Amino acid sequence: MSSNRAALVRANETDPALDEEIENILAGLTAPIKHLSPKYFYDDFGLRLFEEICRLPEYYPTRTERKIMDGHLPEMAPLIGPRVSVIEFGSGSSQKIRQLLDGLAEPAAYVPVDISAPYLSSMASSLAKDYPTLQVVPVLADFTRPFDLPTHAVAPERNLVFFPGSTIGNFERPEARSLLEVMRHEAGPGGALLIGVDLKKDPRIVRAAYNDSAGVTARFNLNVLRRLNSELGANFDLSGFQHKAVYDELQGRIEMRLVSRKAQRARFAGHSIDFRAGEHIVTEYSHKYSLDEFAALARSAGLEPIRAWCDADALFSVHYLTVPQ
Ligand code: AVI
Repeated sequence: MSSNRAALVRANETDPALDEEIENILAGLTAPIKHLSPKYFYDDFGLRLFEEICRLPEYYPTRTERKIMDGHLPEMAPLIGPRVSVIEFGSGSSQKIRQLLDGLAEPAAYVPVDISAPYLSSMASSLAKDYPTLQVVPVLADFTRPFDLPTHAVAPERNLVFFPGSTIGNFERPEARSLLEVMRHEAGPGGALLIGVDLKKDPRIVRAAYNDSAGVTARFNLNVLRRLNSELGANFDLSGFQHKAVYDELQGRIEMRLVSRKAQRARFAGHSIDFRAGEHIVTEYSHKYSLDEFAALARSAGLEPIRAWCDADALFSVHYLTVPQ
C-alpha cells in the first residue's frame, strides 16, 4: 500500500508544502476530537509494518482479495477486454498488479500513479524488465485530485483504473465519492474501474483484524507519533499512548485510535498539546460497505456497477464498474 503517503522531512528551510503539512497536523492535534491523517503511517518503516499486517492470521483482506482475483480473473478479463491501459491509483503491491496483468489479454500499458518518486521508479523498472511488451509510464501525482495522463506510443483500447486493497475504505464517504469521480474522469468515457472493497460482516472478525494478537497494528499505529518526533522534532512519549481499534457499527467503520494512558503534554511545532487521561487521537477510519451500499456510492459518482465478486464467506469484494460513453 503506498497511496496517500506523506514525506515529512524538510528539504530546505522554507518549504511551503511542508509548512502546510505542519499546519494541517497542528489543526488536527488541537481539534476538539484530535486526529491525524492515515497518510502519515507510510514511511519505509510503516510500509514494512503494513506488509507484516497483510500476512497476519487475523487480517483477512489481503489474502481474501487475492483469492477472489485468483478465482475470478478468467471472468473479469473478458469483461475488461484486450489491450487496456491499467492505471493503478497508488502504485501498491507488485504482486497484485502482476496477478492482474497476467490475467488480462495483451495489456498495452501500466500507469502507476503515486506521490513517491523512489517508489514509482523501483516499481516501474521491475515491471518493465519482466513485461517487455508493456509500456510502463509512471505518473508522479496526488491521485485524490485530477491529474494529466501521459500519452501512449500505441493507443490502448480503453483505460482500466485499478484500486485494490480497500484503500477506498480509508476515505470518509463524501471523499470516497470524490475519489471515484476522479477515477471516472481518468478512466474516461468507455473506461472501467476494478476496485477492492472490504465488506460489512460479524464485528468480531473486523475487530480482531485491527487488534491483532502480535501487536503489529499497534506498532503501525504508534509509528505516526514516532515520525512526528523524528522528522518534525515533536516529543510525544510513545509509551504514554495505547493502540485501540474500535468498530462503530452505526457508521460501518473501524476507528483506529491512540489513547493517552495519562494526563500529559507534548510539544509540536512550538505548541503545547495537552491530553487528558483516556483522551485519544483518531489516526484512521476503515469503512466497510455492503455490496449494495458500494454500488449506490459508485452510481452517485456517475459510474455503472456491472459486477461484484466475493469470497465464499462474504468477507471482501471486488467491483467492476464502467464509465458511460
Ligand atoms: C490500507 N488500508 C486499506 C488498511 C485498512 O485495512 O484500512 C490500513 C490498515 N490499518 C490498519 N490495518 C490495516
